[in-house]
Amino acid sequence: MALSPVTTADFLVIGCGVAGLRAAVELGSVGRVTVLAKDRLSESASEYAQGGVAVALSDEDQVGLHRDDTLRAGDELCSKQAVDVLVGEGPRYIQELIQWGTQFDRAGSKLAFTREGAHSRSRVLHAQGDSTGREITRALFARAAAVGEHIVFHSFASTVDLVVDGDRVCGAVVYDEQEQALKSILAGGVLLATGGLGHVYADSTNPEVATGDGAAIAYRAGAQLSDMEFVQFHPTALYLKGAPRFLLSEALRGEGAVLRNADMARFMSHYHSQAELAPRDIVSRAIVSEMQRTGAEFVFLDLTHLDAEFLQKRFPRIYNTCLQYNIDLATEMVPVRPAAHYAMGGVATDLEGRTSLAGLYAAGEVACTGVHGANRLASNSLLEGLVFGARAGKAMLAESPPRPRACPEPRMPVCAPDPEGGCRQLRQLMSKHAGIIRSGKQLRELAEQLARWSAEPLGMAAGAHGAGAQKCLVHKAAGQRAGEGPPIRQAFEFRNMLIVSELIAQSAAAREESRGAHYRSDFPFKVDRFQKHSYIGPGMKVSFR
Ligand code: SIN
Repeated sequence: MALSPVTTADFLVIGCGVAGLRAAVELGSVGRVTVLAKDRLSESASEYAQGGVAVALSDEDQVGLHRDDTLRAGDELCSKQAVDVLVGEGPRYIQELIQWGTQFDRAGSKLAFTREGAHSRSRVLHAQGDSTGREITRALFARAAAVGEHIVFHSFASTVDLVVDGDRVCGAVVYDEQEQALKSILAGGVLLATGGLGHVYADSTNPEVATGDGAAIAYRAGAQLSDMEFVQFHPTALYLKGAPRFLLSEALRGEGAVLRNADMARFMSHYHSQAELAPRDIVSRAIVSEMQRTGAEFVFLDLTHLDAEFLQKRFPRIYNTCLQYNIDLATEMVPVRPAAHYAMGGVATDLEGRTSLAGLYAAGEVACTGVHGANRLASNSLLEGLVFGARAGKAMLAESPPRPRACPEPRMPVCAPDPEGGCRQLRQLMSKHAGIIRSGKQLRELAEQLARWSAEPLGMAAGAHGAGAQKCLVHKAAGQRAGEGPPIRQAFEFRNMLIVSELIAQSAAAREESRGAHYRSDFPFKVDRFQKHSYIGPGMKVSFR
């Protein structure tokens, strides 16, 4: 559905993965809600989530055990209050999802739970084997439809910037790709639920929409972000020339898959007592070590000892995707290596999704409640989207004033002449300097290069991003037709990726220790004075508290 030039809604939700949908369901029972998706409605990280959703619901489990595992994986940096909310309220929200029609896999009449890395119990629910996120979003879309006509979805609508009136966020400027025009949407409350940022790296398991838009948009509006240095690399992404970095779920290791190096030897027990089921950051670093030691570009995930019929039934999506690339998991080992997967940091929020800006809320991967600390426990992210999406929705309902009536005329940032080339160079640089293993020297070089690009951005007219962005806006979209000039969405994404990369680089340079997913070769140990969250805000200034 196309947007008219100025639209109003009671609430604006940007992003329609699990967090955005769950919030919309809450809001739609009372107000008029507009939900935006940059691409197709289904194109979110939630849709691709395979392994499942962790929740303490099995007979052998307890909320306290889920809490302890989450805190341990977070490497002494989780916000304990946020973890208590996540694991304590999680069971209720999962039961609600089941009532709304989500079909989790069952063993007989009981829910079937699998094991994943760093969990002390089998507590990961899954659906259709390895399509858990797809099943949950299906149920949430159905629930949103059942709520009535109050929730309106717009696909191919890229959020360009937030509309800020005084010190309050009161809407967003949106680029409608179908009409190739800028529109404004005014709302009493705005929720960022834009997902992650994996595509600032060369290799990522994320869908291509994950370019860190929400973090960059919030930064430009003046919001505080937190823990941006903590980027989780999933240990096992498919590594084949010409194939995307397709995720090979941790649940495969939960069901018995093992890792082998180039000499075909298992190696994980040399790195951690939980071997293949060690926390993700440890497995990813172990793989990098083995690759460096053997000079190989990848290691192998070996499932050949598992029953073929079991594999096809338990992991149909993964099995069939690998088959498309001529790999039969039942008979051949798969080449894998780590790829950027999840941002623990994001727009700083309290437990109700409130950001540092009035009227702006955030939930899901784009937000940072501190719940994941320095390293997210496997399969806690869908649960986070549900719990904190619902909480943000409730807070917006309780707090949002009537929507504003006037708004500034939307204007278009200058478009990049070669955003594709710019993105490519940026990703290579981020992977080299801010990847799994970092050093102060590399991070300083990265920050300098990013500052140069920010001053005269690669493939982007000077001054079109950062604090001066609003001053050099020009109308350009109106006359531009498809095929003329660079793709406009990609130019916006590049602008956002540049900011997000700077946020990561500056935060990573400031944290002079190794903790969770942030590993510094020049500071290889945890340091007590850094047992704090990092904050970064206007002017890229980092502080710890
Ligand atoms: C996976 O299935 O391995 C990914 C699940 C997650 O990221 O928590």
